[in-house]
Parts: sequence; structure tokens; C-alpha cells
Amino acid sequence: MAGLVDVKFEDGVAILTVDAPPVNTITAAVRSGLDHALNDVAKLSGVKAVVLSCAGSTFFSGADIGEFSGPPKEAEYRALFNRIEGLNAPVVAALFGTALGGGFEIALACHYRIAAAKTRVGFPEVTLGIIPGAGGTQRLPRLIGAEKALDMIISARPIDAKTAVAYGAIDRIAEGDLGAAALAYAKELVAADAGPRRTCDMKVATDMATPEIFARADATAKKLYPNRIAAQTAVKAIRAATEMPIAEGLLYEEKLGNQSKATPESKGAIHVFFAERETRKISDIPADTKGRAIARAGIVGAGTMGGGIAICFANAGIPVTVLDTTGEALKRGLDVVDGTYASMVKRGRLSEEDKARRMGLIKGSLDYGDLGDADVIIEAVFENMEVKKKIFAALDKVAKPGCVLATNTSTLDVEEIGTATSRPQDVIGLHFFSPANVMPLLEIVRTTKTSAETIKTSVDLARPLKKTPVLVKVCYGFVGNRMMEPYGREAERMVLEGATPREVDSAMEKWGMAMGLLAVYDMAGVDIGINVHKANADKYPVDPTYYQAEVALGEKGRFGQKSGKGFYKYEKGDRNRYDDPEAIALLRARASELQVPQSAHDEDEIVERCLYPLINEGFRILEEGVVLRAADIDVVWTSGYGFPRYRGGPMHYAEAIGLKKVLAGMQKYRDRFGPMHWEPANLLVELATSGTSVAEWEKAR
Ligand SMILES: NC(=O)c1ccc[n+]([C@@H]2O[C@H](COP(=O)([O-])OP(=O)(O)OC[C@H]3O[C@@H](n4cnc5c(N)ncnc54)[C@H](O)[C@@H]3O)[C@@H](O)[C@H]2O)c1
Repeated sequence: MAGLVDVKFEDGVAILTVDAPPVNTITAAVRSGLDHALNDVAKLSGVKAVVLSCAGSTFFSGADIGEFSGPPKEAEYRALFNRIEGLNAPVVAALFGTALGGGFEIALACHYRIAAAKTRVGFPEVTLGIIPGAGGTQRLPRLIGAEKALDMIISARPIDAKTAVAYGAIDRIAEGDLGAAALAYAKELVAADAGPRRTCDMKVATDMATPEIFARADATAKKLYPNRIAAQTAVKAIRAATEMPIAEGLLYEEKLGNQSKATPESKGAIHVFFAERETRKISDIPADTKGRAIARAGIVGAGTMGGGIAICFANAGIPVTVLDTTGEALKRGLDVVDGTYASMVKRGRLSEEDKARRMGLIKGSLDYGDLGDADVIIEAVFENMEVKKKIFAALDKVAKPGCVLATNTSTLDVEEIGTATSRPQDVIGLHFFSPANVMPLLEIVRTTKTSAETIKTSVDLARPLKKTPVLVKVCYGFVGNRMMEPYGREAERMVLEGATPREVDSAMEKWGMAMGLLAVYDMAGVDIGINVHKANADKYPVDPTYYQAEVALGEKGRFGQKSGKGFYKYEKGDRNRYDDPEAIALLRARASELQVPQSAHDEDEIVERCLYPLINEGFRILEEGVVLRAADIDVVWTSGYGFPRYRGGPMHYAEAIGLKKVLAGMQKYRDRFGPMHWEPANLLVELATSGTSVAEWEKAR
């Protein structure tokens, strides 16, 4: 395959260099290119050693995940890797960058491994619901022992080159230029007459492959990955490496690998993996739209969100000016930022120099004039339309032409905010999630006036800020909070009906949510929820029980973690939540005042009542065209709301369990509670009754 693999012959060493940008994924073309290159090598006479390396930013980054949905390719990988391993001259892999999954597996099939100091290797497969399927489970334990192989594959954590050398997975770290060092290593092996050292000829060390070690690994796999089996399947495959000859073990690995590709967990996780790569594709703006460069940023409001967003810019190396109303507010905000960096230094995540450099990029100001050179300004002040409009009018006067004027509002109409300026085409919502420096999701909210350039600039900005952008249209709550509304409504309604906060939260956590919603309310502040619901009461149906659980608690000063009690109670210096009979009594009393019928709730009911209305709202959002794709909704929920990736996000999950089932669930609860909250979305009805998939509907749209 011309162009993809270059073969050079130097002093008896054949040097194969693969150049498949951007990250040397082992695609079908790369595999075929390597096969051809090996044919060329076979034709050369006097080949005493082979070096396998890559051009560009990394050694092979991994297998081609895009092939997973098609016919199995394991046999093809196996044949190629066996061919490399079977060469009669020593083969040296020259690693750099991140060699993960298939990228690490091809290195394990080479006879010797040398790596640049910053190389990282590992097997992230189980986080995608699959197992290493190109020899990883068979070769790695032969090379480094079962215990370490189990740890690497179950933890899915890459290791650095130094650790890999200590484990015996890499032979040496290259000093200086990797290419020269790899060539020197190959020559050294030739001079020493070292010959091939094939991983397949090794036996797994028996002292590190005891039944106890496997039992422990299995228990870890179960504990780390509830509701999932890929890690346990990997343990099985690794155990086979201790019991079977390699040829048999490789076939067994293939069988298990294909089984794991068919599980709901892998389908969900791989769906999210691709969905995250799609969100940057904005199909309804001209393809040649250019984003504007962002060299400087401004933030209005040095509070919780403003500070977190400032950290994102500073981390990206973009200077940012933060403005507030008083010196005191400014100082408080910047002190919090400093404290956040200080705790990173304390935990060894950041050096003092880097902290100083990043703090140096953040300037405080009380003067709008200081925002005149910013390319993007993000407003993050109190959630109040009048205040925000005043700020945008002020920004309109000072911001340079083309500056993106963004608001971080969670609930207000971005379109209306834009009317306060003379340039609504530059106005957009950049909705960060709290803590803004940690949460990956960035909802980008366009109005009917936002220009294509402003959209493109905002989507592009997500990359340096290390955010996952999802473009949405203006609607109340946008995508995430809008769908959370009915989820929260049911969670609160159930605790009025007699379920305990823990019963509701535990059912959802057991199902896979990172944290139960009532515990989330306690963390975010019960009062914040009350304020939002009060301010937006006109947007919800008239239901006297609506959000009365939080009101009952809030009236007694139970604002959540910050007041030591909310839906649960909290002890100082302890992050646990404790059941609180006092909270439960308050909820019972409110339920009795409101005459809410009491009932028992099993886990299935809790999960259905929380998820079905959430999914139903997703179908409305999709039908209204608030998002470009259903998969964007899945990304919002997996990257911003703790929805388990292995369930694929709410829309994928709905299809995985069957739209008919979701519809029947909505109808079941509509019969029980009436239509106010339980009317199925038109699109859900349409797709479920016609048996059309979301993908088919999207294609036809
Ligand atoms: N906290 C969250 O979880 C969260 C998440 C997403 C979005 N938001 C949104 O972000 C925005 C800010 O929320 P927050 O939690 O950071 O609030 P906050 O109360 O922590 O901070 C607001 C800051 O804005 C400053 N401020 C107020 N009026 C100002 C003005 N006219 N000019 C300059 N500064 C002014 C205040 O002094 C304060 O420092 C709100 O719109 C909120 O809805 C919050």
C-alpha cells in the first residue's frame, strides 16, 4: 500500500515506518500496507533485523473501532501479528506517544520493545465493554505475568514507559532520538546474535498465576464494573493464557472477544465513543464556515462558574480577564481559583511553576474597558434576566467587533439576552456544568440570530478548553436540565408517596447513575432548586405536589450538604450521606397535607418512573429539532449528568430496551397517574408503533 508504509534498508536492518495520520490507527489499509511491506522485506536479502515504527504523533494508537460493527476482523489481526512474531530476524518495536489496545498488541507481537520516555501503553478495552482481541490477553501475561496483566487490563489504566520497563513489557527507554536508538538496538541484537525472542514461546510464570490471584481479579472486575461483564470476560481470557498453548488461547480470546462485542454494554459504550466524535459536525451551517481565533477571553462574574471557567481558559494557555462588581467579590473569586490550583499542587497534579503560570494568565478587573481586547466574553453572573441584559448592553459598547458574547445561563432565554445588544449574531449560550473546570460537557446554545461563524468559533473553542461540545437550540432548560426536570419530578414525587430518599437514589445508582438525584440536589443546594422552580413556575403544569418534597425540606432550612441536612443528613468532615428520620417525617407530613396516596416502590418502578419521562422528553427535544442528532442527547447525559456510558445515553438505551417497551411504560403510568405528566411524545408513539428506528427516522428527515 504505497504511502502508508515506508520500507528502508540500512546496514542489514529493514525499517518499516507506518504513516497513517492522524494517529496511526490499525485500519484495514494499514494492515494491508504492513502485509505488503513484509512481502517486500521477505524479498530483501541479508535482513538481519527489523524495526517497526510510525511517523507522526504516536506509535499505533489502537485498532480501528469503526470496524467493530462490521464482520469480525480478529483473524486478520491475528494473522498479521503472528506473521510479525514469526519473522526469523529480531523485530524491534519503536514506541512513542500512546500505544493502546491494538497498538500495544502489535508491539507485544514484536520481539523487543524500545520506547521514548513519555510513551504510555495500556488496554482501555474493558471501558468500551470489550476485551483486547488481537492477542493482548495471551501475550501480555506471558511477558509480564498474570497478576500485572490482570491489573493492567481490568483497571484499563495506561502505564508509563518507566513502569512498563519495570514490568518487563518494554525492554528499554530510548535516550535521544527514538529512530536512531531503535536502529542501534537492532544492530546490538544482531551483534549479540540474540535472534528472535517470541512472546508466544514464553510461558506464564506459575507463581503469579495462582487460583487466588484469579479469584481476586474476578472480584475486582465485578466490583469495579457493576452491571458489566467485559472485565470478567478478560479475566477468563487471561486465565486461558495460563492453561492453553498460544494458538488455542488466541482462538479462545477471539471467541470471547466476539461475545463481548455483542453485549449491550459494549454497544452502549461504543455508541457514546462515536457520538462524542460526531458532536462537532454541524450539518446545517455552510461547510466552509471558518471559526475566529480566540487569543484572549473575558468573564463577567467571579463566582462559582466564572472562577471554574477562568481555570479552563488558563489551563488552555489563554489569558483571561475576570470582571466583578466589587473588589471584594473579585478577591473572593480569585482566591477560590487559587485554592483550586493549590489543591492540585498538593495532590501532585500540578507543579508550583505551572500553578504560577496559570494564575498569571488570570487577571481581575472592575472595569468593562479591560474586556475590549477579548475574543470571547462569557457572562456568569446571577440568574436574572434584567442583570444579564444590562451586562450585555455594557459589553456591546466595549467588545471588539466579532467578539463572541456568551452567557452561561442555565434557564434564561438566550435570544432575549441577545436583544440587549446591537449584534445578536455574536450572542450564544456557553453552558458549562459545575464544577466548570472538571465537567466535560459544554452545551452550546444558539439563537435564531447566532451566526454560523459564532457557532463554529464556539464549537472550536471547546477543543482547547477540553470540553465536549453539544450544539442545541434555545428552549427552557436546553437539553440536559429540560430532561432532568421530569426525572426530578418523579424522584421527588416518589419520596412523597412513601419511598425513602435512599430507596430512590440507590435504585438509580444500582442501575448505573453516578449519583442519585436527591443526593445531587443536596450537593447542589436544595434552595437553588427551589428558586429555579419558583422563578419558572409558569413553565410547568399545575400540580400542587410538584417539587413539594424540596419545598418541605427547604422550609426547615434543610438546604443540603451546606447546611448539614437536606434529603439526607451529613456529619462534618465526612462525605457520607445518612438516612434522616427527621427528613422522612417532614416528607410524610407534607404528603399527608397534600393527600398524596402512599404506595410501595420496587426498584423497577423507581427506575422506570425516573427514566421513561426523561427519555420521553428526549423524544420531544428530538422532534422539535433542538439537537442535530439523537446521539447528541446521549452525549449530554453521559458527559454532563452521570448517565452510564455503558447504557449508551437515554436515547440509545430506549432503543436497546425497545421503544415499544418505553411507550408501554409511559402508557402504564398514564393510566395510573393521569395524562398531565405521562403523555407519550408524538415521536415516541410514531416510532414505537411503526417499528422505525431513530436512525431510520433521522435519515428520512
Ligand atoms: N452553579 C451552577 O451549578 C451553575 C451551573 C451552570 C450554569 N450556572 C449559571 O451560571 C451563572 C452564575 O452562577 P454561579 O453559580 O457562578 O453564581 P455565583 O453566585 O457563584 O456568582 C455570581 C457572581 O457574579 C457576580 N455579579 C453579580 N452581578 C454582577 C454584575 N452586574 N457584574 C459583574 N459581576 C456580577 C457576583 O458578585 C458573583 O461573584 C448563572 O447564570 C447560573 O444559572 C450555574
